[in-house]
Amino acid sequence: MSKAQEPAQIGIYGLGTMGSALALNLAEQGIRVAITNRDSDWIAPFLDRAGALAGQMVPADTLAEFVAALASPRIVLFMIPSGAPMDAMLAEIVPLLAPGDIVIDAGNADFNDTRRRTRELAPTGLHFTGMGVSGGEAGARHGPSIMVGGSESAWTALEPILTRIAARYEGTPCVARVGPDGAGHFVKTVHNGIEYADMQMIAEIYGLLRDGAGWEAPRIGALFADWDRGPLHGFLTEVTAKTLVARDPATGRPLVDVICDRAGQKGTGRWTVIEALKLGQAAGVIGAAVDARVWSAQAGLRQRAEERLAPGAGPFDPLPAGVLEQALIAGRLVTLVQGFEVLAAASGEFSWELDLAGIARIWRAGCIIRSDLLHPLIGALGQAGPLALTHPLPALLAANVAPLRRVVAGAVAAGLPVPALSAALGWYDSIRRARGSANLIQAQRDFFGAHGFARTDSPGSHHGDWGES
Ligand code: 6PG
Repeated sequence: MSKAQEPAQIGIYGLGTMGSALALNLAEQGIRVAITNRDSDWIAPFLDRAGALAGQMVPADTLAEFVAALASPRIVLFMIPSGAPMDAMLAEIVPLLAPGDIVIDAGNADFNDTRRRTRELAPTGLHFTGMGVSGGEAGARHGPSIMVGGSESAWTALEPILTRIAARYEGTPCVARVGPDGAGHFVKTVHNGIEYADMQMIAEIYGLLRDGAGWEAPRIGALFADWDRGPLHGFLTEVTAKTLVARDPATGRPLVDVICDRAGQKGTGRWTVIEALKLGQAAGVIGAAVDARVWSAQAGLRQRAEERLAPGAGPFDPLPAGVLEQALIAGRLVTLVQGFEVLAAASGEFSWELDLAGIARIWRAGCIIRSDLLHPLIGALGQAGPLALTHPLPALLAANVAPLRRVVAGAVAAGLPVPALSAALGWYDSIRRARGSANLIQAQRDFFGAHGFARTDSPGSHHGDWGES
C-alpha cells in the first residue's frame, strides 16, 4: 500500500485554532491523521501551513470521504463549538459509523450534555468520549493536558495516541482516563473554574498595585516575573509577567493600558459554580471570579457609578511585595481546595471514582492552571479526609493566611475591590470556627417558618417559644 493510501489512525473534524494545532501535533508524532472541516475551503490553506507535516495528513472534502479514510475501529475527534453544533454533527456522522467506533468531543462541553449523548449513543455500539483539552493553542500544538471521559475500551484504543501528543511532566504524560461518561468534561470544567479564580486573584493584586500603590504595568510585570521564580511558579504567573511588560506598537504605552476592562467568558466558570451548588458545595472563590467578570462587562454602569457612589474609604497603605505574594498563594491554595472538593463531591454523586491525586498530576504540565502550588496537594489528595485538614495544607494555609488577611483588610479599607481574595478569606475564617453563627439563622427559620432546630444539649428537632410570633 502506498503512503497516500494508508488509512489514518485518527480523524480531526474542525480546523479552527485548537483542531489545527492538535492535527499538527498528531502529525508531528508520526500519527497519520485525516482532516476535514465544515467549510472545506479551509483545508488547502491549512495543508500549506502544515508544510512537511502535510505528508502525514489525509484531507477529506466530505464527511463520507473522511470516515472512509479512517482505520477501524474509527476514531473521530470533533473540535467544534459545544452545544447544538455537536448534536448536529452527531446526527450526520452516526449513520456513517459502525459499532466499536469512537467519537470524541474535545471541546469545552457541558458535562450534562456529554452524559446525555453517552446515553443516547449507547444503543448504537459507538463509544462517545468527552475529552477536556487544556493548554490553549500552544498546548494543543506541543503538548496539552488531556482529561478523558468515556468507556475503558475507548481508552484502550486512545491511550497509545494521546500519550504521544500530551504534555509531559518529568517524562510522565499528562493524560488520563479520569472516569466514565461526563467525567472528562466535568474535570475540565472545574479546571477552568480554578483558572477563572486564579486569573481574578492575579488581577486583584494587579489592581491594588496599579490603583492603590500607583505602579506602572512594567513594574508590576517585573514583580510577577520575580514571583515566577518562587512558590507561585506557573503558567498564569508567567503569562501575567509577559502581558504586563508588552508594549502597544501604536501608542508606545503598555498594551494592558489600552485594553478595555471587560472580560469575556464562554461559560465554564459559571458551570463550575452551578454544578458546585447543585452538589451542595461552595466554590466561593470561583463564584466571586464569575461575579467579577459579570461586573467587568457592566462598563456603562461602572462609569456612572464611579461618579455617583461615594467610596467611604481611606487611602491604601502600601504593603510589602512579599505580603501580596503570600496572599496570592493563600487565595490560590483555597481555590484548589474548593475545586478538588467539588470534584470529590461529583465523584461520589455520579459514582465516577475519580483519582483526585491523578488529576492533580495531569495538571502539572500542559494546562493553564499548571503551577508549583499543585505539588503539595498531590500527597494530600491521596489520603482520606477533608483536604484542608490534610498535611501539608493546614501548615501551608496558616503560613500564608495572615498576609491574605492584611491584603484584604488593606484593600477593603481603601475601597479597592478584592472579591475573590475576600471570598478565600471568608471561607477560611468560616470553616475554622467550630461554633459559627448559623444558630441564629436556625432561630430565624423557626420563628417565621416553624422549620425546627437541633439543640446543643438534647437530640431531636425542637421549636422555640418565640413569644409574640
Ligand atoms: C484551557 C482554557 C481554554 C480557554 C477557555 C477560556 O484550558 O486551555 O481553559 O479552554 O482558554 O475556554 O474560557 P473563557 O473564554 O470562558 O475565559
